[in-house]
Amino acid sequence: MAASDESGSPVFRLIYQSHSRIPKSDRPTVLGEIFSTARSRNKGADITGALLITDHYFAQVLEGPQGTVEELYGRISADPRHERLAVLDSGTVDERAFGKWSMAQVSAAGHADIPLHTANGEIHPAAPSHLTAEQSKVFATMRNAIGADTV
Ligand SMILES: Cc1cc2nc3c(=O)[nH]c(=O)nc-3n(C[C@H](O)[C@H](O)[C@H](O)COP(=O)(O)O)c2cc1C
Repeated sequence: MAASDESGSPVFRLIYQSHSRIPKSDRPTVLGEIFSTARSRNKGADITGALLITDHYFAQVLEGPQGTVEELYGRISADPRHERLAVLDSGTVDERAFGKWSMAQVSAAGHADIPLHTANGEIHPAAPSHLTAEQSKVFATMRNAIGADTV
């Protein structure tokens, strides 16, 4: 059976990493702007995903129709707020892992939708019971790529 989402279209997933160019003092404001744009645009474009943030790196997963995801990745690649983008994984998948989120915020602190912290403060996104197996797998790819930077 062909991979598809609820609407019957195939689901394409792209995961990339990048290096942030946002100065520390601007981070809260600029990240707020990025999430606000991402969420409103993605909702209208049938895109879902998650954005993992550390002090110096981003890792993002984008899911949706292939052409839409590729067009968005092209736009994101040209964004001067980050650099050194590298695709970690891409291809058709059976279903969305982040179907509930137009863009989930994943971070060690702040207003994360999906926190990286366990109760005792350790970075431990792989195991929390609220993640599905597929979400854990995607986060492992993202975290392993930029993990050296996590604090
Ligand atoms: C790390 C990062 C993640 C982003 N994620 C998205 C996203 O998921 N969806 C989106 O529409 N824009 C996202 N953007 C913003 C786009 O790069 C772009 O600024 C925005 O889509 C508006 O594009 P436009 O000015 O060409 O209309 C992201 C930017 C950065 C730096």
